[in-house]
Amino acid sequence: MISIIILFFIYSSNAQQCDQISNVARFDCHSEKDSTKEKCLARNCCWRLPIKSANYTEKNSTGFGFVSVPFCYYPKDFPTYEIISTEITDFGQRIQILKKQTTYMPYDILNLTVDLIYETEQRFRIRIYDSVNKRYEVPLQVPIVEKKANITDYEIKLSQKPFAILVTRKSTGVTLFDSSVSPLIFADQFIKFSTRLSSPLLYGFGEHQQPLLINVTQEWKRLTFYTRDFPPMQHINLYGVHPFHINLERTSDNQTNVHGQFFLNSNAMDVDLQPLPAVTYTTIGGIIDLYIFTGPTVQNVIQQYWDIIGKPMMPPFWSLGFHLCRWGYNKIENIISSLERMQKADFPLDVQWTDIDAMSSHLDFTYDDEYFHGLPEFVRALQANGIHYVNIIDPGISSTQPAGSYFPYDDGIKRGIFMKKFNSTELITGKVWPGTTVFPDFTNPNAIEWWTNIAEAFHEVIPFDGMWIDMNEPSSFIDGSTDGCTDNTFDNPPFVPHVHGDALSAKTLCPSAQHYLSSHYNLHNMYGYFEAQATNQALKTIRKKRPFVLSRSSFAGSGQFTAHWTGDNQATFEDMYFSIPAILSFNMFGITHVGADICGFLLDTTEELCIRWMQLGSFYPFMRNHNALGQNDQDPASFSWEAQQIMKQALIMRYSLIPFWYTLHYEAAMESKTIIQPLFSEYLNDANTYDIDQQFLVGRAILVSPNLLPESDIVHAYIPQDVWYEFPSGIKLNSVGLFTDLNAPISKINVHIRGDFIIPMQIPGDNLVLGRGNPFTLIVAQSQLGTASGNLYWDDGDSIDSIETKTYNYLEFSLIDFNKLTINTLVSNYKDSAMRLDLIKILGVNKFVSNVTVNGENYSNYLYNIPDQILVIYALDLNMLAQSSQTIQWTFST
Ligand code: NOJ
Repeated sequence: MISIIILFFIYSSNAQQCDQISNVARFDCHSEKDSTKEKCLARNCCWRLPIKSANYTEKNSTGFGFVSVPFCYYPKDFPTYEIISTEITDFGQRIQILKKQTTYMPYDILNLTVDLIYETEQRFRIRIYDSVNKRYEVPLQVPIVEKKANITDYEIKLSQKPFAILVTRKSTGVTLFDSSVSPLIFADQFIKFSTRLSSPLLYGFGEHQQPLLINVTQEWKRLTFYTRDFPPMQHINLYGVHPFHINLERTSDNQTNVHGQFFLNSNAMDVDLQPLPAVTYTTIGGIIDLYIFTGPTVQNVIQQYWDIIGKPMMPPFWSLGFHLCRWGYNKIENIISSLERMQKADFPLDVQWTDIDAMSSHLDFTYDDEYFHGLPEFVRALQANGIHYVNIIDPGISSTQPAGSYFPYDDGIKRGIFMKKFNSTELITGKVWPGTTVFPDFTNPNAIEWWTNIAEAFHEVIPFDGMWIDMNEPSSFIDGSTDGCTDNTFDNPPFVPHVHGDALSAKTLCPSAQHYLSSHYNLHNMYGYFEAQATNQALKTIRKKRPFVLSRSSFAGSGQFTAHWTGDNQATFEDMYFSIPAILSFNMFGITHVGADICGFLLDTTEELCIRWMQLGSFYPFMRNHNALGQNDQDPASFSWEAQQIMKQALIMRYSLIPFWYTLHYEAAMESKTIIQPLFSEYLNDANTYDIDQQFLVGRAILVSPNLLPESDIVHAYIPQDVWYEFPSGIKLNSVGLFTDLNAPISKINVHIRGDFIIPMQIPGDNLVLGRGNPFTLIVAQSQLGTASGNLYWDDGDSIDSIETKTYNYLEFSLIDFNKLTINTLVSNYKDSAMRLDLIKILGVNKFVSNVTVNGENYSNYLYNIPDQILVIYALDLNMLAQSSQTIQWTFST
């Protein structure tokens, strides 16, 4: 009788615990695919159908990656940790927490330590780890803060039982972090915690094919993080891992702040988002190491994030030009004919690429002397014409060549730098293009020298200028290895995040494989990161010039070493659109030199699509047209004469703006600014901008509104409240602060320059090398107050340490009082180049100009265009470095 009463009591308290929880506040207790009532109750969780309400409709639950209100969720009293001691430390606070009973995952860790580190005024770090045993931690060199900063922006509160952390923004009281929403679970291979979000409006969380704004106002979403080779599709874990997001905080007076959060963890993980709004991280290893960046602007958050992961590299100047590539040139004659038609049609070209078809039997660091006979001489000839050359390298090294015949393998064996099977000296083998391969372990310090040596030996044969590192998720055509995987807990963990292919070994190596630093289980997501680091290093050693690396796989911080492209997209209008949120997100992730395969990789492109994509791609930071094996040619010169003229126009726009782009790269590398950014970043209080991802800004000054629809002559675009001038015409736009239909026939991409900015430009040459000495021009887009400003960074474009040694020129332009433009040379240590200014176009001059002076002398070469309100001062031939300050002034007729 007594036991029945107790049982009833437990049941009723449990029922209450379960019934009190609304749909949106349910945290999934059984997110595995095979969830059933029995399995749920075995975890002591609640099992209920969603409560029917206006907000809950039973949408289809079959779509891949679709998640909705969980049936199985934690009751309010689910066992979790409580604080047993707190201690004030130099860095902040150290707290011991204890869980009194184990729950459903094996090897629950009951004693944990929590460090609250007040790193800077705007940056807060939470570390939760096993109090007794040292666990794997991500091998990123993050700053170690030993002294607590004076915090002004945020406030921390703790809940003792159950243990929870609450972070609020002091000035507004808005919650930035609140872990009390669900129980913390910390088992050896299953760590799960949740936090309330400030709003359902989020950005980041890559690499996924998704719109820029991740909106969970009504929807539930799951994003999985595990590097994977798969053509970009929604809801699938892709090539890179960036567990970073930005969250909007709207206050009642319509002011918006933002904060960011970075989960420093490299294990496979799921991120679940729900409309409470809340986020849940479920990772299968490491520790909880979480950063909160309090912004309060988007660029502040990004700066605070990049202080942790490292700033983007300064790319070589030539890499800003147009790159042409395809898989399936098949023979050198086809590259030559593509180049010839490009030249004949007068297209600028900076970089010619080759893919795996130029290798001999797909072996890294070889070329096919039959079909690509003469490739070395060809490359040298390209270089003599200022064209650079980049080739592809995959990480899989063939292990089946006759002994002594393939140096990369033989030498790698000698140095012991290939990945090994679990607890074994045997190498793990997969299958990639050349057949059976082994995989270099780039976490092994000896691998850097090996990699450098074999690349150097090949560089002596073909003097490549950059390296394209592909397939580095790492990708394999078989699951696990040629010998399968083990059945240990690395290969069979108790929980597998929702990775594509359902297994961690799907089209990659067994998680149990061994690296020098740790298991592949822990390091899989960082394979591309370490390869990019090694490749960047190798290129510096070999070429003694600024390295250019293009990597498909990436992790937080990869931007220090590499550029990135978004992988195997399709030649569709939809994929062209998705390239915009992707490159905007990668800019936030600190990989600023980024682009997508222009005109599309898979499928045959069409002339219309390729024109639109070339127009858009002219405003990607990294501009490469690339195509898959078997598809029709899509280099610009392979299209009709009309199409060529339009594409050329787009390329001329790009090339004329290169000084502006180059300066943006400098500002990214030095000042942690993104190169391209979403509109909401500049217009944070304007809610119309929050979901705009079909338009973007280059720097702060250029608005790009591409036409992304087939057979359409208009672009429905948002023009933020500001002064805007059409580019290149310079005509002022009248309708601002609204959505409007812009004229966008096939010949036109809509580009607008923002008032208050000065854009440094240059007359384009055949490529960036040949055009280097060409004259500069300036566009001065004045604000309503008659002001504008801008900068120009200029160096030799190729030295490794131009910035460190200050061997550059840095100029500042400013317009004041409607009529006085000054050029100030702040740094002028790069003397080798003439920096001649030929033309200045001042936009928005609404009074007739009667006189112009240059450094006090009357100057007669100017035109004032009354209807367009543009003043053009031409044939200046002004050496911008001649004096530290120069002035151009004009007077208005009265
Ligand atoms: C996959 C890459 O994503 C693609 O760009 C390349 O052309 C092929 N591998 C062949 O190397």
